[in-house]
Amino acid sequence: MSAILEVEHLSATIDGQLVVEDVTFSVPATGVTAVLGRNGVGKTSTMKAIMGLIGRSGRVEFAGERIDREDTHKIVRRGIGYVPEDREVFAGLTVAENLRLAARDATPRRELVDQLFPDLVRRSGQKAGTLSGGQQQMLSLARALLNTNRLLLVDEPTKGLAPKIVTEVAEALEEAARTVPILLVEQNLPVIERLAGDVVVIDAGTVVHTGDARTLLDDDEAVHRLLGVHADTATTAPGGTQ
Ligand SMILES: Nc1ncnc2c1ncn2[C@@H]1O[C@H](COP(=O)(O)OP(=O)(O)O)[C@@H](O)[C@H]1O
Ligand SMILES: [Mg+2]
Repeated sequence: MSAILEVEHLSATIDGQLVVEDVTFSVPATGVTAVLGRNGVGKTSTMKAIMGLIGRSGRVEFAGERIDREDTHKIVRRGIGYVPEDREVFAGLTVAENLRLAARDATPRRELVDQLFPDLVRRSGQKAGTLSGGQQQMLSLARALLNTNRLLLVDEPTKGLAPKIVTEVAEALEEAARTVPILLVEQNLPVIERLAGDVVVIDAGTVVHTGDARTLLDDDEAVHRLLGVHADTATTAPGGTQ
């Protein structure tokens, strides 16, 4: 299958410290590709390096064009939507105002967003800071989905959420993935099992495994070795922050 994103020998530093080292993987043009790995191994830094948010070197090709020397705003304009780990909604603004600010296209896809997130429609006048964690995650996803992106980078959308809300977020991502390929950082194995086609496992700043999601999840020894958890028992990696 053709790739929408090719990452080759990507390295990145934060405060002079190498946090991403020689990372190579590709993202197919359809479906969900999951990035897995224990806490602190460089998943978020890899996303930030792709987006040009931290200093990086190496080659990143998006839809056949190099973006590894480009500024973040230019990368965003090419059609890569980024949903950061900490959600970053404007707490003092209403849901409707958050969405209005996020709309980059002349014709934002309000219908799609309203259909995916009926709860946000009901809460359009509510201040984003008073939403639950799950609702803020929905708003953060909605902000990215409003624009016609060609790829979404979504960083740990289910982190810290109650199981019922995790399912709702997974359903929204599953729907979204019908319209746009997603590179998804996720530690919840059932969510990966449900959504992901391919997986990329990162450890100590570099890629240690790539392949088919199901093949990995069916291999309990590999899951334990690569992620430190057992596929059939754990839903999150040990040392999870919440
Ligand atoms: N702002 C920062 N300043 C210094 N070190 C950082 C910063 N952000 C991340 N790091 C370090 O970079 C490494 C990778 O972090 P990160 O990419 O956030 O990992 P992950 O998303 O896999 O949990 C960790 O060792 C972390 O301590
Ligand atoms: Mg992270």
